[in-house]
Amino acid sequence: MRLIAGSASLCLTTTAAAAPPDTLQQRVAACIACHAVEERRDAYFPRIAGKPAGYLYNQLLNFRDGRRNYPMMTYMVAQLSDDYLREIADFFAALHPAYPPATPGSGANAGAAALARGRQLVLHGDAARKIPACVSCHGAALGGVAPAIPGLLGLPSDYINAQFGAWRSGTRRAAAPDCMADIAGRLAGDDVAALSSWLSLQAPDPAARPAAAGSLPAPLPLPCGAMAGKAAP
Ligand code: HEC
Ligand code: HEC
Repeated sequence: MRLIAGSASLCLTTTAAAAPPDTLQQRVAACIACHAVEERRDAYFPRIAGKPAGYLYNQLLNFRDGRRNYPMMTYMVAQLSDDYLREIADFFAALHPAYPPATPGSGANAGAAALARGRQLVLHGDAARKIPACVSCHGAALGGVAPAIPGLLGLPSDYINAQFGAWRSGTRRAAAPDCMADIAGRLAGDDVAALSSWLSLQAPDPAARPAAAGSLPAPLPLPCGAMAGKAAP
């Protein structure tokens, strides 16, 4: 596969000796060091394989342009063009490796009441707090929806908790209206741990793929700039 010429090397180290790799395969090898295709290495490292291409692309732009903050990610994409980031996003979106067995993160300690609350929020939401069901946007099977809503299964509970913390503190942002930031603000403190625990304990269906764009009822229960194809500010 040919790649669009990128100015930056994606070497993991900062030593400048090696010539820039010249295939997409070589470039993404650096990503796989952390986003292992086949096994989850760390409670905070999300799986990226198989997520909708538009979602992955938006996140790469978000790290590059400062709307998400993780220094190593910013470093990896800082010098790359929009076109090249799209090519990387398409590459990972097309991969569908097997899922590893769930690793027990903090979700492993959740009690029955918390798991019941988590399941309730994911499948039905909470009308009193104006929280729509997660399935109403992330798809009935929680496998994500094209072009820009990710699946929620196969993510470590600690990663999910960290993302809700980032939405609440404003260190993770998406195109306005930022529906996930709104939802994060409406959830009670215990709710995040409850839903992340329940989600992390559900076995993903290896055959699941992001649902087609038209499969969600329109309009979405809350507007999301990411799904409207809007450029983030
Ligand atoms: C040193 C480890 C490391 C390397 C190397 C790395 N990443 Fe990441 N990446 C992370 C971590 C950790 C996160 C989660 C950060 C956070 O909590 O927001 C992340 C997040 C992401 C996300 C967002 C995932 C989601 O579900 O929202 C994408 C997309 C991504 N990385 C793609 C890449 C690509 C493409 C490369 C190679 C060019 C790469 N990463 C290299 C550690 C790494
Ligand atoms: C109105 C639609 C909508 C609803 C309802 C919704 N989400 Fe989302 N969610 C999104 C969109 C859009 C994104 C992508 C945001 C971005 O581009 O950063 C997202 C992203 C996420 C992510 C990031 C995944 C990753 O890999 O980093 C998590 C976690 C998440 N949502 C959890 C939830 C949970 C839990 C609920 C239910 C309480 C929920 N969402 C309800 C639209 C929605």
